[in-house]
Parts: sequence; structure tokens; C-alpha cells
Amino acid sequence: MTLKNKKVLITGATGGIGGSLVKKFLSLDSEILGTGTNSEKLDKLKSEYSKIKVKKFDISSHSQIEKFIEEVSEELGGLDILINNAGINRDNLSLRMKEDEWQKVIDVNLTSTFLLSKYAIKKMLKSGSGRVVNITSIVGHTGNIGQSNYAASKAGVVGMSKSLSIEYAKKNITVNCVSPGFIVTDMTNKIPEKIRSILISKIPMGKLGSVDDVSNCVAFLSSDEASYITGETIHVNGGMYMA
Ligand code: NAI
Repeated sequence: MTLKNKKVLITGATGGIGGSLVKKFLSLDSEILGTGTNSEKLDKLKSEYSKIKVKKFDISSHSQIEKFIEEVSEELGGLDILINNAGINRDNLSLRMKEDEWQKVIDVNLTSTFLLSKYAIKKMLKSGSGRVVNITSIVGHTGNIGQSNYAASKAGVVGMSKSLSIEYAKKNITVNCVSPGFIVTDMTNKIPEKIRSILISKIPMGKLGSVDDVSNCVAFLSSDEASYITGETIHVNGGMYMA
């Protein structure tokens, strides 16, 4: 996969999947700037990988996103690849879901992803090529109890990505999604054993995925080798859902 010297912005770099993305892109000699909201975790990332640049930024500060992309591009000396990986959930049964729980998830997972893509693509248009990869979720395709906000946000990202991919297809800019199923992270480690075994019984491969399964797929879609793939969603879920 050709990713050498590519300038990459990874949001949510301090999270479970984000950590694997950082490792993967560094191993392919990309130049990375990672963001997150937790200063301590960002410092830790910087101390682990001397080559990485880090920047604290809350992507729900929508009015600051244009300036943020400008600064990132200046720090990296360009912007070739945007990985929209940051995401949150605020689960609740729909009848109990507060408007704030709905809105926060839509703001971070959907609106921020749109605005980051919009301003990154503006930069990519100037350089003549680019890649946007958005991390969605199996839940955006199947729905899930207690996750109407999260499912709506992730399904929204799929439709948005298809639209962006058509708009910029002739400009050498591709926009794709990677949709993970159940991945071993701190979040899924908290699932009680009984529910975990029911979950695993529904996965044809009989196991949860790893964060590296996700980052391998993201790296491929970001690479020169994936230049004729756009508007696509690749499911990384062990066969649990087939589009
Ligand atoms: P995580 O909770 O470990 O990491 C989330 C990251 O997003 C952190 O770096 C956090 O700082 C960042 N973030 C959250 N809110 C932010 C904000 N307002 N501004 C800036 N950064 C913010 O999550 P994980 O598991 O690594 O998930 C990464 C992505 O993968 C998310 O989009 C999630 O929805 C998606 N996903 C995860 C699955 C899983 O099984 N872990 C399954 C399907 C999708």
C-alpha cells in the first residue's frame, strides 16, 4: 500500500481504533497529525511515537473547524488524507432519549464529519487529489436497541459520503466508509460474558474483530492502490452483516 510521505489527519487518535490507525499509518511512513479531546492521552501518544504531531481539538466546535483544518494543513505541510474516526454514543431507549442525547451524537458523528470533510476537500482540490475515509458502524445499517441517535448519525455519514464522492470523483478525491462490526476495545470489553457469547454466536466467524482489522482496511482505502474505489462502504464485521 503506497502511503509514504502522505499527510494524514486522524481524528479520535487517542481511542481504541485510533491507536491502531496511528500505528498502521506510521508503519507505512505517512506523516500524521492525531487529534482528540484528552490532553493526557494526546501527550502519551506523542511520547509513544516521536514522529506524530498531536493537537487537542473538540470537533463539536463547528465554527472552529475551518480554522482547525487550515492549521493542520500548515503543520503537516499539506493534507492528503482525512480519517474521520472520532465518534461518541449516548445510548438510551428512544422514548427515554433526551433531545440533548440525540443532538450531541448527531453533532459529533455527523455534522462534524461533514464539516471536517468539507474543509479538507477544499484543501485537496487545490493539491489535485485526496482521500476521505469515514468510520461508520454496522449499527448504521442494521439499527440497534437504544441507539437510534447513533444509528441515525452513522447511516447519515454513509449517505453523505456517497454524495461527496460523486461531487468530487472527477477531481481525484475519493470518499469511502469503513463500517466495523463488534471490535475488541475498552467499550466491548465491558459487555457481560453472557451477552458477549450471544453476540459471538451471531458472527459467522465466531469472534469479535480487532482494531487492526479496521485500520488495515482504512489504510487500503487511503492508499494509491484504491484510486478507483469511491462512494463505497467496506464492512469489517466477520460476516455479521452483508450489504
Ligand atoms: P473510543 O471511544 O475509544 O475513541 C473515540 C475517540 O474519539 C477518542 O480519541 C476521543 O477523544 C474522540 N472524540 C470523541 N468526541 C470527540 C470530540 N467532540 N472532539 C474530538 N474528538 C472526540 O472509540 P473507538 O471504539 O476507537 O471508535 C472509533 C470509531 O469507530 C467511532 O467513530 C465509533 O463510532 C466507531 N465504531 C467502533 C466500534 C467498536 O466496536 N469499538 C464498532 C463500530 C464503530
